[in-house]
Formats: sequence, C-alpha cells, structure tokens
Amino acid sequence: MATVHHKAHESRLFSGIFTPFPGLSPLSAMSDRRRILVTSALPYANGPIHLGHLVEYIQTDIWVRFQKSRGHDIHYVCADDAHGTAIMLKAQQNGVTPEAQIANVKADHERDFADFHIRFDNYHSTHSEENRELSAQIYLKNRDAGHIATRPIHQLFDPEKQMFLADRFIKGDCPKCGAKDQYGDSCEVCGATYSPTELKNPRSTISGATPVMKESEHYFFKLPDFAGFLQDRERSGRLQPEVANKLDEWFESGLNDWDISRDAPYFGFEIPDAPGKYFYVWVDAPIGYIASWRNLCEKTGRDWKEAWAADSRTELYHFIGKDIVYFHALFWPAMLEGAGYRKPNAIFAHGFLTVNGQKMSKSRGTFIKARSYLEQLNPEYLRYYFAAKLSGTVEDIDLSLEDFTARVNSDLVGKVVNIASRCAGFIARKFDNRLSAGCAETALVQEFILAGDSIAQHYENRDFGRAVREIMALADRANQYIDEKKPWALARLEGREQEVHEVCSVGLNLFRQLLVYLAPILPAMAEASREFLNMQSLDWASRQQLLLDHAINSFTPLMTRVEKEKVDAMVEASKEHLEATADAVPAAAVTAVAPEALAPEITIDDFVKIDMRVARIVNAVHVQGADKLLQLTLDIGEEKTRNVFAGIKSAYPEPEKLVGRLTIMVANLAPRKMKFGMSEGMVLAAGPGGADIFILSPDAGSTPGMKVK
Ligand code: MSP
Ligand code: ZN
Repeated sequence: MATVHHKAHESRLFSGIFTPFPGLSPLSAMSDRRRILVTSALPYANGPIHLGHLVEYIQTDIWVRFQKSRGHDIHYVCADDAHGTAIMLKAQQNGVTPEAQIANVKADHERDFADFHIRFDNYHSTHSEENRELSAQIYLKNRDAGHIATRPIHQLFDPEKQMFLADRFIKGDCPKCGAKDQYGDSCEVCGATYSPTELKNPRSTISGATPVMKESEHYFFKLPDFAGFLQDRERSGRLQPEVANKLDEWFESGLNDWDISRDAPYFGFEIPDAPGKYFYVWVDAPIGYIASWRNLCEKTGRDWKEAWAADSRTELYHFIGKDIVYFHALFWPAMLEGAGYRKPNAIFAHGFLTVNGQKMSKSRGTFIKARSYLEQLNPEYLRYYFAAKLSGTVEDIDLSLEDFTARVNSDLVGKVVNIASRCAGFIARKFDNRLSAGCAETALVQEFILAGDSIAQHYENRDFGRAVREIMALADRANQYIDEKKPWALARLEGREQEVHEVCSVGLNLFRQLLVYLAPILPAMAEASREFLNMQSLDWASRQQLLLDHAINSFTPLMTRVEKEKVDAMVEASKEHLEATADAVPAAAVTAVAPEALAPEITIDDFVKIDMRVARIVNAVHVQGADKLLQLTLDIGEEKTRNVFAGIKSAYPEPEKLVGRLTIMVANLAPRKMKFGMSEGMVLAAGPGGADIFILSPDAGSTPGMKVK
C-alpha cells in the first residue's frame, strides 16, 4: 500500500483525523494481545456436512477471523469425531474398514470446509495417537482420584452380531397399541414411551435377530462428585442465560453417574486395564479438542501444555450447537477438573437451522449438503446471510430461500459492491487509476472509522446481526453521499475535474472501510477488494490510514447477483423422493421405464412375485468392451454379494461415485447369462434416458436386504 502522503495541502484537509478518538488507538499494543484457543464441535465421520452444520463452522470462522484482524494470537482447531457404533456399522455396510471409512469422510469434510472459506489452523481426527494417549491419561487421573465406578448392567444383546444394542438399534411392536416397527424408546403412533425390553416381538435392526438380555460390567464417571463445582461455575455467570436455565433444570432433577464404557465390538479406544471395554465416543470426542491442538503445536514447535494447564493464560472457547450443551457444560468441565486441567472460559451455544421456516427435509429438498450448495452458489452468500441472522443466543435461525436471495442481492451487490463500481470507472478513465491527494469529506470518513469500535464490540459478542446492520447503514450513507454529489453529472461540466476526483476517491475510501468490517464474513471478496485497492492488508487497525494519492488496480466485478434459478436447482437436486419405508415408493416411479405403450395388464399376484430389496452398491466398475453397461456388486444382506450388469453408464460415467450408495433391486429375477458374465438381478431406475437415468435411492436409514413392499 502506498502510505499516506502528508503534503502541506493535505494537513489542512486532515487536521484532526489522526488525533486520537476514544478507543481509536491501534490495538497492536502488545500488552492487549490476547491468546485465544477456539474450537467448533467435531462433526461425526459418518455423513456429509450440511447447511445446518455450517451455521456453526461459519459462525466460529467469522469470530476467529475477526480476532485475527484485531491482531490477537488466536487459533481455531477442530477434528472429525471418528468413533462409535454408527461409524463402525457404516463402514461394514460400505464393505470397508472403519479406518478407510473415516479417512474418506475426513477428506470430504475438509474439502467442504475449505470451499466455504472455513480456515482451521488444524483439522485432526479423534482416532489419533495424541487422542488415544490423552484419553487414557485423563481417564486414569479421574480413576486415581476416585471418580470412576464399575457395576454390572443388563442390556439387550444381538446374538447374531454378538453385540450389545443401543435403544435405537431395536425395533418391535408397541407394548401399548401394538403398532408395528416402533423404536426401542417410544411409539410414533400412540406416543407411549417405554424401555426396549417392553417391546413385543423385538428385533435387532442390524441383523434382524431377536435380542436377548445379557449382563455386562460397565464403567461410570461419577458426575455427582462434581455437583458443587459445576453449580459454582454456573453461578459465576460464564454461561448464556438460556444455557444457565437448562443447567438449573438438570441440577434440580439431580446428576447421575455417566456410563462411559461400551463392550466390544466397538470402534474406539480400549479403556486402560479393561480389555474388551471401550470408551464411549463422547468421552474421547471433547478430548479431541486437546489432541488437535497438541497435534498442531507438535507441527509448529509450540508448547501445547500451556493452553490446557490449570493456570493457563490462554482463553478457551467452545462453539457448539444447543443439542450438545449437556456434554459441554457438565461432563466436559467435570472431566477436566477431575484430571487437573483448565476449564473453558465459555461455551458459545447456537440454535438450529430451519429452512423456509421448517425442519430441514429430504423430501422438500431443504436438507441441503454443503456440496450441493457449492455446486450452484457462491459460499459467501451463505456466510453473509448466516452472519446477518446470528445473534449470539441459542435461538434457531431460519434460512428463507426467498429472503436469502433478496437480501444478498440488495445488501452486497446493490449496496456494497455498487459503491466501488460507481466510483472505479471515473478513477480509471479520467485519473489513471490514482486516488486524489486530498479528501473532500473528512467528517464522513472519520465517522466510518469511528464506527469500527461499536462494530467490533458486536463481533466480540457474536452479535453478528447487529454488526451487519451497522455496516449496511454505513453502506447506505456512502451511497447517499455519491447520490448527492452526482459525479456523473459533475464529469460533464467544465472545471469540476478535481471535485469528481475527490468524490470518487472518498467513495472508494468509504468502500475500503466497509470491506475492513466485512472481511471476517466475506474473506474472498475482501481479498479481491484488497487487490483492487492495491493494499497490503485490510486488518482492523489499517483502516485508520486513508488512501490518498494512491494507485489502485482496475476494477473487476466483486460479486454477482444470486440467481433464483440456481437456488431452485439446488433444492431440486437435494430432493430425495424415496423414503426409507418402501410404502412411500411410488409404484409408478418403480416401474416407469418408457412412457410409450403400457405393457399388458398384470394382477396383484403377478406383482407380489417380484421381490424388491434395498441393496448396497459395494463396487461399481466399467465393463471392458461394453459402452452402456456398468458392473455392480450388490449387498442385500445375504452371505454372497450379487453381480449385476446394468445399462446405466450414460448416466453414471464415474461408477466409483456409486460405491456406498443404496439402491433397489429385483432380487428374485432368474440369473441371466450375458456376454460379460452372469447377471443376478436387476437394478431399478427411472428417467428419460441418456444422462438422466436415476437409480432409485432409498433413504440412508435403510439397511441392505430390507424388503420393499
Ligand atoms: N460429534 C458430535 C460433537 C462432538 S464435540 C466434542 C456432534 N456431531 S454432529 O456432526 O452431529 O454436529 C456437529 C455440530 O453441528 C454440533 O454442534 C451440532 O449442534 C451442529 N449441528 C448439526 N446440525 C445442525 C443444525 N441443523 N443446525 C445447527 N447446528 C447443527 O454432535
Ligand atoms: Zn403405540
């Protein structure tokens, strides 16, 4: 950046601007430099990142970027939460090892985050050596301090899979109303709640076997030991009010021992001195925060221990969703206390995302994956929209797609970018891309610089919505200024050159202030603006230097409008018409192949002969010498997988993308010898043909072998 030139005539124009305003002193005074460690919750390694997750990662990233802009020593670490039964079963379904499963998902997660400009200082995995060691150590310290108990419990057991079953893996008939196919804890038909042992005709959803009752020794963390400690913490006012209220309710109903062990088979860490017993995933998950930090420090040569020592000078904050407050406000500080570690300074809980006023839904196309969004839209639109909606409370936030389109277009394109595009043309054409040496509107520019103090306060409080409102009010003022001065009219008059130059230079100085304030939310647009303005940095403190007699670069459009068609396409692509229950499969969709003439009528008896099963595609490859066929290996829960040749290559040119997906197959079709081998069934698909053939995809909750009625 060309630094400010203090020429004689400028000091007149600028008398006053560098005298210190309250709070305007640069924050670079090193004694104010805070050391901060920030985390977001660790996403499970069993599925893709969706827009709901992104509320949290975007919120955290904005806060971290803001603190970095202020010059603080802040680090943002995260990891995949890689352990637990769900991940173990998912790997089995996909026919891969859990290690391969979590490696694939981690790569996808990291790519999604990066493409949304979420910039972690480190992204690790809970399935890591650091975490294994730290988990053992924290457990042993708690055990040696007397906070661990053991006792036998009785639980349902799947005799076929040889594993204990959590409630959600047991289904049966409701003990009250008899409704079939109800989960182990409550009936969706009559609303009754019960324990899984009360279900009639219970079965394991994993194998279908009838579960049996079995005893096993479990390990417990004695949470009640920490009741006083936790209550004192709550009273010290560190928590959001809504969270404190929740805690009061929990204290009132009494704290219980926490079951922290799971029996083999379990994908996780074995408990020290307890062969066959594993830490419940929620034990080593938060310890993953420490492990990720340690992993980072070991790469950079920093001392990792200081940040976690009981007397640490580092501030520690956890950003989480409201659904996991229990773990972060009770178990986590208690475990840390029991092991002699420091506790977080605060947990920052946020609400849940709804889309168009309703829960995200696969059938409405509002359960939108990060990748489906990125295929259509600019990630900064969403960052801006979430920022505008976030308030630092646990209230849910709604993504109204209509409002999203209108707001991004009106605020970012219509107001902010507009300021630059209105001024840049004149500066380029008439003044050789050089800003004026003097500034016509000292007071206005001062006002913009000063606003940075209250905007910073809102960022600090995570009240991004308020920050955005103040920034947009400034954008309105900048546009008003240009409207009043009408540089386009001045440019047509004799002898008003300098005025045009100064007005447009003021406009770009105001634009630059806005970009300092928006940079934590819009890092890519800020970076492009920084280049356009030919500056070194858009840090918070840099805003106090004006751009005078300063060369800029040619303007290129910084952001384009949100196109409604793209939003619609994203929703359309997110629609999953087929639900797990096969009843929801429209018969027409199942059978429709060609719209031409109808085949001869069949009876219901003919129809029921067709045995349709949910199948997992465990492998999919090209067939040498065939231009329409793919060779699929399908798992329908039988001992042997099925080999099927399907004419879907035109629609699925990259067969590896099918691996792991569920589809529906006709399982009792007589095997047919084809040129390339035996085909043992048929996969169901719909669509007009060519690139538009869609294999039917039941909901991810379905299991291979499930019958489609
Ligand atoms: N693995 C645990 C966290 C362990 S932290 C030691 C977990 N994972 S998660 O993938 O289910 O969720 C990750 C984060 O995303 C959580 O903070 C959760 O609250 C948040 N969200 C998941 N779905 C969400 C919405 N629909 N809306 C807002 N946040 C959501 O929980
Ligand atoms: Zn019932």
